[in-house]
This record gives sequence, structure tokens and C-alpha cells, in this order.
Amino acid sequence: MKTILVTGGCGFIGSNFIRYTLAAESGMRIVNFDALTYAGNLENLKGVLDGQRLIFVRGDIRDKTAVSGLFNKYDFDCVINFAAESHVDRSFADPELFCQTNVGGVVNLLNAAKEFWREGKGFKAGKRFLQISTDEVYGSLGKEGSFSENSPLDPHSPYSAGKASADLFVKAYFDTYGLPCLITRCSNNFGPRQFPEKLIPLVFNNACALRPVPIYGDGLQVRDWLYVSDHCAAIEAVLAKGGLGQVYNIGGHNEKTNLEIVRAVIGYVGQNINPKAGDNLITHVADRPGHDRRCAVDSAKIQSELGWRPQTTFEKGLAATLDWYKNNPEWLKNATSGKYKAYYEKMYLNR
Ligand code: NAD
Ligand code: DAU
Repeated sequence: MKTILVTGGCGFIGSNFIRYTLAAESGMRIVNFDALTYAGNLENLKGVLDGQRLIFVRGDIRDKTAVSGLFNKYDFDCVINFAAESHVDRSFADPELFCQTNVGGVVNLLNAAKEFWREGKGFKAGKRFLQISTDEVYGSLGKEGSFSENSPLDPHSPYSAGKASADLFVKAYFDTYGLPCLITRCSNNFGPRQFPEKLIPLVFNNACALRPVPIYGDGLQVRDWLYVSDHCAAIEAVLAKGGLGQVYNIGGHNEKTNLEIVRAVIGYVGQNINPKAGDNLITHVADRPGHDRRCAVDSAKIQSELGWRPQTTFEKGLAATLDWYKNNPEWLKNATSGKYKAYYEKMYLNR
């Protein structure tokens, strides 16, 4: 039986990936190593955390001793690193944390793999280290075109600078030590269990309560949206068949302006939850510093080499996402209690 280390498996994409993998693959054991930061939630694994096919270990990828102990205990076949500080807006207030986790934590994991996977002058056969990166490492586009895997890295936030740095470390460990590494760079995900600091669940939460919906600047920034299970399928394909040392872009070909997204979410809330919710809730607030105007990646490589294609239309994915939030009010309530209020006030009041 293969054993995979999944880091950050209590967050949005990690928990969806674990669910996706356990549902599809019977002969896989997953060890989920997660620090349970504000974004990590064991509720996300409710019903699948059985201690056999899925084992949970609370720990921090910045902690060298804990990471070595984990590699010592389990002979991992693969590592998939989802763990990160993932929110761009939070990176402005605490860039150091983003550097420590998103760069230092990744180097710790790479070092452990390098040490524990070594055999003779190389590495044991079949090992694979997959770094989950982001399209934001490429920066911003004009009206036309999209980024390929060969586009230069041009990050504009402490978050994306950390992710780009980690990508360069992963590349360096492949180039200098031959560590069997791969990198994926995905566009904006949406789906169940996304923390409500991110655009879609934040708008849903505010619109349900008829609170103002903040749009940064003119709201004409463009993101390429991908339903989370399509991202999970892409990760599975790269892990199984991707070329070592390779980078794979993953995108949804669903480019939307933020205003389009916000109107669609408010429309759903107006129809299904609170008939008073309408576009009058949209409130333009100060823009995000260094805000990428348009992000889009070309996924031709993963499509032609690995046969992956997105399966979920934007409309179907959005309906499934918002239905999930509608049907899980306790989850949303828990996520927006505690420190969320202080975060929200600091980020949005007087903006
Ligand atoms: P998230 O914030 O929802 O989850 C992050 C998880 O990592 C949480 O469970 C948290 O507890 C854990 N974590 C944070 N710091 C840790 C540490 N030091 N040690 C161990 N665990 C730690 O993030 P997400 O949206 O699920 O993103 C997952 C990964 O995918 C990130 O690497 C992110 O950069 C990347 N990514 C995200 C998107 C997106 O649209 N959300 C798109 C492309 C790539
Ligand atoms: O592209 C991949 C990236 O997508 C990932 O690497 C990040 O981890 C993930 O958080 C996401 O980053 P974004 O910054 O694009 O996501 P966010 O949901 O924060 O914002 C989406 C867009 O909406 C962005 O242009 C900023 C805007 N926005 C966001 C919020 C939270 C608003 O206008 N108002 C808001 O309140």
C-alpha cells in the first residue's frame, strides 16, 4: 500500500483532495500533517478521518524535528505540499510569517525528503515530491494572452513572492540533488470548505446577512476560476504521470471579472436565501496594493501530456459550491466566529 504525506490537508484544497483520493483509490494511505492554523479545520475531514486510511498528525512544516520525526516514522512514497499561508491580503500585514511557512517550511520538507529518500548516490525508486504552487507567481497580464510554464516569475505580493521562492527551491533541489520533484501552478479554486476570507464565500456570507459586499477598486480585475475537484484530478494526474523536474499549469478557462463573480453570488443568495439581497450591497473599497489586474494560465501542457481537462462548468461548480454553504450553516458560523470578526474589522472597516 502506498503512503502519501499530505501537508495542509485540513484546509480548503487539501481536504477536498483527501476526500477525492479516498473516494477514488482504495490502496492508498494518507498521513495528513497540519498545524491547524485559523484556516485548518478538522471538520473538513468529518466522516473520512478513520485513523487507518487517513491518519492525522498535528504539526508545523516549519518544525524540523517534527518533520524529521514524521519521515522517520513513515516511509512516504510521495509528498504533496498544500500547507501554506494562502491569503494574499493577510500577507501584507505579516510577510515574515509567509516567508517562514511558504519558503522555510518547504525547504524543511525538501531537506527531510532528501535525507530520508536517499539510496546510494541517488534516491529510492518511485519517490515523488509535489509542490502545490499558484499562477500568482507569474504576476499580472494585459488584456490578451496567458502564462505558460516558461513565463518569467514576477510576483507582486509577499504571498506570491514566497510561493515563487519555494518553486525556485524545489527546482534547485531537483537540479542540484536530483530530488524527484514536480510543481503545479493552479488558478483560483472555488468549491466547498473554502475559508470565508476568500472572495466567493465572503460574498456569500455577507450577502446572506445583507452586509456590504466589498469590491477592491473598480472590480474589473480578472481571475480564471477552477472548480476544486478539477484541481484535485489534475494533482492526481501530475502525481501519477508527471515528468520529474516539470512544472504544470492548471487553469479552468473560466475568466471572470470580480464584479461578475460577486453579482452571480449575490444573485444566488437573492434567489435561494434572502430575497432582499441585491447588487445594491456591492461597495467599492480601496484597492489591494499591487493587485494583479488579470491572471490566466495556459494549461495546454497538462492537457496534451497528461490528458487532464476540467470537467465542471463554472455555472455547475458555482451552484454546487453555494449549495454546500447553504446546507452547512454551522460550518460557516464556526469559521466566522472567534478571531474572524477582528480580522474582518481590521481588513474592511475604514477601508
Ligand atoms: P488554506 O488556507 O485553506 O489551507 C492551508 C492549510 O495549511 C490549513 O489547513 C493550515 O492549517 C495549514 N498550514 C498553514 N501553515 C502551516 C504550517 N506551518 N504547517 C502545517 N500546516 C500549515 O489554503 P488552500 O486554499 O487550501 O491552499 C492550499 C495550497 O494551494 C496552498 O499552498 C496555496 O498556495 C495553493 N493554491 C491555492 C489556490 C486557491 O485558489 N485557494 C490556488 C492555487 C494554489
Ligand atoms: O490564483 C491563485 C490564488 O487564488 C491562490 O494562490 C491564493 O491562495 C488564493 O487565495 C487566490 O488568490 P486571490 O487573491 O485571487 O483570491 P481572493 O479570493 O482573495 O480574491 C479574488 C479576487 O477578488 C482578487 O482580485 C481580489 C478580489 N477581492 C477579494 C476579496 C476577499 C475583492 O474585490 N474583495 C474582497 O473582499
